[in-house]
Amino acid sequence: MSTIISVSNQKGGIGKSTVAYNLGACMAIEHEKKVLLVDIDPQANLSEYLGYAPDGLPTLTNLVISICMGNVLIADNVKQAIRHSEQADVDYIPSDINLASSETVMSTAISRETILKRILSNEVISAYDYVIIDCLPSLSSLLINALTCADKVLIPVQTQKFAMDGLQALEALFTQIKSAINPKVEYLGILPTMVERTKVSQNAMNTLSERYGDRMFTAFISKSVEAQKSVESRIPLCMTNCKLGTEYKNLTMEVLERC
Ligand SMILES: Nc1ncnc2c1ncn2[C@@H]1O[C@H](COP(=O)(O)OP(=O)(O)OP(=O)(O)O)[C@@H](O)[C@H]1O
Ligand SMILES: [Mg+2]
Repeated sequence: MSTIISVSNQKGGIGKSTVAYNLGACMAIEHEKKVLLVDIDPQANLSEYLGYAPDGLPTLTNLVISICMGNVLIADNVKQAIRHSEQADVDYIPSDINLASSETVMSTAISRETILKRILSNEVISAYDYVIIDCLPSLSSLLINALTCADKVLIPVQTQKFAMDGLQALEALFTQIKSAINPKVEYLGILPTMVERTKVSQNAMNTLSERYGDRMFTAFISKSVEAQKSVESRIPLCMTNCKLGTEYKNLTMEVLERC
């Protein structure tokens, strides 16, 4: 059985896709885990990071629309949407811009919060050790779908002023989904990202640990240009000798322990 981890925070540009990519790659490269990354963001940043180029094969959009049309997907349908990234040593289901318009189609579908769950409920998916979902920056039905099928939720938080803005709304959504739809979902942890030596960043770290205690990871990710370089080169940070490489290795160990 696979463990499904949703990387979620409706705040934009705080490092979700970078975390999803590098956590998945490190699990695969350093710990020989079988990992599937699922991009549910119409911006498709994770897909691009993974080297996806449109190839005529189905993307997540096609799977979502097919379910909305009333089709029951079989494992082979889902398999066709899975690609492989050599560099990150992971499999992935890409997204594309058309996923944005599928939210309208989703709004009238039966049991619309379980669409992603139905895509990920088959033997092709359960053969993975970990499935990591990269969420989009909005409290949308796609995010509700991610929380509905997740076992664990990893929340990256940028340590800046207003870092906690929106966290309450995300927690409220989590509580609602846990009580109404997905009782097994748990917090995996709050991950401080883009940590700096500045007072503002350190204050945000302190506030987060006061508020979240053990729910916060011991691991954290510093702010560094290496993150952007990794996006450009597609070389996972755990394969580099930079500080972020060590930090991502620490995060991955902690995630594996917590799972
Ligand atoms: N630790 C880091 N230090 C510096 N820059 C970073 C770090 N992590 C990510 N970045 C950069 O910040 C930008 C946003 O990161 P990323 O795309 O991972 O955020 P996101 O939360 O997924 O954004 P969105 O909400 O738009 O999906 C990217 O340019 C990325 O390269
Ligand atoms: Mg992103």
